Amino acid sequence: MAERTPPRPEGARAYAVRDELGVFACTRGTRAVAASLGFDPAACDELAIVASELATNALRHGKGGVFDVGPVHDPALGLGVRLAAKDRGPPIRDLAKAMIDGSDDQGPLDPARVFGRRGIGAGLGAVVRLTHRFGVDQRDGEKVVWAERFLARGSARTRAATPYRGR
Ligand SMILES: Nc1ncnc2c1ncn2[C@@H]1O[C@H](COP(=O)(O)OP(=O)(O)O)[C@@H](O)[C@H]1O
Ligand SMILES: [Mg+2]
Repeated sequence: MAERTPPRPEGARAYAVRDELGVFACTRGTRAVAASLGFDPAACDELAIVASELATNALRHGKGGVFDVGPVHDPALGLGVRLAAKDRGPPIRDLAKAMIDGSDDQGPLDPARVFGRRGIGAGLGAVVRLTHRFGVDQRDGEKVVWAERFLARGSARTRAATPYRGR
């Protein structure tokens, strides 16, 4: 039987996020990069969700931005994938609140207003649950919301939704 050639790891890809089509390009690109790095199909699906949440936030809350995805290597954790959405929109005022499911960066969403706002305030929570590291770097009017998931760590679904600070 012919041996299967392992996929060739891809370099980084970058996408402009100006509309929903841009968000879709981020999810598709993330899936391709993650597969090339050796993530299994379920992990690729989960990473596509992470890409969609980060890119959608950059579009909706950050007035559009740039998304990139590529390999990352950590001395302890080995090979992984890093996703980052960069924008120059208004800052995240309170990250701890923003990370709580059902909240924005000011606190719990008004249940009467959730329907129709296109988002239940659980995007960042999902990003945290589906990755191994998460962070937000805000300075000089620019914001980078990033997440990393490592091959050797396997499924990330059990991770508690608490922010990772520092690298
Ligand atoms: N890129 C961003 N720029 C500004 N604020 C953001 C950004 N990403 C997230 N936020 C803030 O964090 C909150 C929570 O984000 P999220 O969990 O994705 O929920 P949702 O997008 O449904 O509001 C947002 O409501 C917003 O206040
Ligand atoms: Mg969101």
